[in-house]
Amino acid sequence: MILVTGAAGFIGFHVAQRLLRDGESVHGLDSLNDYYDIGLKQARLNLLREHQGFTFHLADLVDAKTLARIFEDHKPDHVVNLAAQAGVRYSLANPKAYIDSNVTGFLNLLEACRSGPVKHLVFASSSSVYGLNTAMPFSVHQPTDHPVSLYAATKKANELMAHSHSHVYGLPATGLRLFTAYGPWGRPDMALFHFTRSILEGKPIDVYDQGRMQRDFTYIDDIAEGIVRTIHRPPAPDPAWRGDAPDPASSRAPFGSTISATTPRSNSCASSPSSRTASARRRSSASCPPSPPRCRSRTPTPPTSPATSASPPRPRSKPASAGSSSGTGAITGPDFGESIPPRSPYFLRR
Ligand SMILES: NC(=O)c1ccc[n+]([C@@H]2O[C@H](COP(=O)([O-])OP(=O)(O)OC[C@H]3O[C@@H](n4cnc5c(N)ncnc54)[C@H](O)[C@@H]3O)[C@@H](O)[C@H]2O)c1
Repeated sequence: MILVTGAAGFIGFHVAQRLLRDGESVHGLDSLNDYYDIGLKQARLNLLREHQGFTFHLADLVDAKTLARIFEDHKPDHVVNLAAQAGVRYSLANPKAYIDSNVTGFLNLLEACRSGPVKHLVFASSSSVYGLNTAMPFSVHQPTDHPVSLYAATKKANELMAHSHSHVYGLPATGLRLFTAYGPWGRPDMALFHFTRSILEGKPIDVYDQGRMQRDFTYIDDIAEGIVRTIHRPPAPDPAWRGDAPDPASSRAPFGSTISATTPRSNSCASSPSSRTASARRRSSASCPPSPPRCRSRTPTPPTSPATSASPPRPRSKPASAGSSSGTGAITGPDFGESIPPRSPYFLRR
């Protein structure tokens, strides 16, 4: 049995659906938090419930007892952790939500996995761990010690916590540094939804950083495919790994991190229909369409009604303080453009 946490969320829903179509038995877990429209989460769950192999647990990762009971009762042999407080910009407004779900909740999950024992824990990290890194293309062999949001810091913490459980308890764990996902049933707090809503309503689109910001996206089916292919491939300890020249990408412990759930297939602009997959790196502006012609300062978007049908519902937006889920070097909000100062007053002493 495969446990998918965050099954009512954007990525969790697609991963669970893909696994169910493959004939797997899937238990989904989600707290159905109100970070965005719960109607959208319920509508995703309704689709999953159409599959016989699906069981749902309404539970919060922060509740260690309930989590332990679910593991005791159902003994998942593989776990895909997609439950988290997502969003970069929202971590400025509500930092505690990130520590609760992404740190305390993640610790509870690790503890449940090790007592399982679980054959493989696959968890979502994020491209945002690259923070201030500018070396392109990003690589799992690069250090990632300079996050620029609390969200990113919790994702980096997840990688470190999972490594320590892999080392101490032999828990095979793989962290996937997902890049911004797009596709049906997507998250209404993300930029594409803000853009679409504004276009439909004939309103100007918010543009940040003088419209110089560029970004790649990964199509959701490609992310789901990558995650599903990872599940049955637990990492083994790397015998070539050296403590005197430690490669961040592997370990003496059964731990691995992967930069994206898919192999890039295209370098062209992700907004064009012919390029569904992200190249996961910045491109020259010559290959992109011009910025939207109109711009204005950011204002909150009014809510729309929740969904009831089987087609992706029209989502309700969070106030504009909610952000997209990952960033590459800057805190990026719904309009992925607000950058932070280029240098951080931070250093480590020996
Ligand atoms: N969507 C992206 O572009 C993207 C990019 C990089 C990384 N990620 C990561 O992928 C994962 C899934 O993201 P998503 O876009 O599907 O987000 P999402 O918000 O749509 O899904 C997350 C789900 O987890 C649930 N949840 C949150 N805290 C919980 C808790 N404590 N206990 C139980 N359930 C909880 C929420 O109710 C939600 O349904 C997250 O870890 C996110 O950080 C997403």
